[in-house]
Amino acid sequence: MGLFSSIKDKVVGTPKPLLTEAHIKSALSVVMDPDLHQDIVTLGFVRAVTINGSSVSLEVNLTTPACPVKEQLKSQVEDILKALPGVSDVTVTMTATTRAPQVSAAAATNPSLQHVKNIIAVASGKGGVGKSTTAVNLAFALAKAGSKVGLLDADVYGPSVPRMVRITKPAHDAGPNVIVPPESDGVKVLSAGMFSQPGEATILRGPMAGNVVKQFLTQVQWGELDYLIIDYPPGTGDIQLTISQTAPVTGAVIVTTPQEVSLIDVRKAISMFKTLKVPVLGVIETMSYFVCDGCDKKHEIFRSGGGERLAREYGVAFLGGIPLDPRVVIGGDEGTVQVQSLPDSPAAKAYSGAAGAVAQQLSILNSVDSGALNQFVLEWKH
Ligand SMILES: Nc1ncnc2c1ncn2[C@@H]1O[C@H](COP(=O)(O)OP(=O)(O)O)[C@@H](O)[C@H]1O
Ligand SMILES: [Mg+2]
Repeated sequence: MGLFSSIKDKVVGTPKPLLTEAHIKSALSVVMDPDLHQDIVTLGFVRAVTINGSSVSLEVNLTTPACPVKEQLKSQVEDILKALPGVSDVTVTMTATTRAPQVSAAAATNPSLQHVKNIIAVASGKGGVGKSTTAVNLAFALAKAGSKVGLLDADVYGPSVPRMVRITKPAHDAGPNVIVPPESDGVKVLSAGMFSQPGEATILRGPMAGNVVKQFLTQVQWGELDYLIIDYPPGTGDIQLTISQTAPVTGAVIVTTPQEVSLIDVRKAISMFKTLKVPVLGVIETMSYFVCDGCDKKHEIFRSGGGERLAREYGVAFLGGIPLDPRVVIGGDEGTVQVQSLPDSPAAKAYSGAAGAVAQQLSILNSVDSGALNQFVLEWKH
């Protein structure tokens, strides 16, 4: 090396400051992840740095493909690299490895969920608030961002997910008492409604219903998933308890309408998760406002700001407000999901924004140092 560089010095004259990986990483150490409050180099996000003459390419590996600040981080990194002396070409590839909480004992002993990184409960105080529509759109928005997603309809008394999605790949058996869930455009979907004829009432008594949900969590090959979204039955009851006893639920999303906010039911749902030691990721307010044709004004039909107030009161994030959109109803009845069929509509954008916010809250939760997390897992088991 010494000999080579001294010969090289003689041939090319005084060498220019050499562009090295360390040089690049030090320049990028000013880029902060706004949620994790650390720089992207310390967080280990900067990978695969390749320097070829004046061309630099690297990868920024985030904690979720649905990261809401992905584009912002990408252009910040590009700008810094382009400003470095001796750099002319810059290629920044944004990738993601979804973070998971430290695997709890329950997941390790339950093969169905062994490779499921995050389980998200979508819950509400009462029915008819748009919970299932939210669960479905969150699932498809996360999948669209590049995540592996499953959707479990645990609302066994009023399953609505089969009506809302179009199955594109049928279920099949993977051995005795193990089924591979059907898929809807890459999202693995399972619902009690798939086991009865459409329109037929679901006649399930409490213990039976609990068993059905238990089977969904123990005898289904969910495979590798970044997110398993569970559409909970409304309110607080045995099924919710059964799910928490069977699956290590990572966090809960509370869905409410502006009218429901002040009601006792939604508060009960929040305190149920507190009792079950499931962190509440935040609140989504549905049917928040109406955007009419021809004007961009948000008409707040019901009292506004309730979801945000509720989130503040409980010290959790407000994950977004979803507008009232008649096309959501039509889509729900026809098996099309708004974030897929009308991605540019205000409702689809709001659902995608909320999905990003959910993923962001999970990344924050999962980045909690392992000491604190250990404590959480231990608490959860009791
Ligand atoms: N953002 C929305 N705009 C208009 N209608 C909606 C919206 N979200 C849900 N709905 C409609 O409200 C009804 C109840 O929604 P659903 O998701 O089934 O509620 P839940 O699961 O809470 O009972 C459905 O007819 C659905 O299409
Ligand atoms: Mg529902």
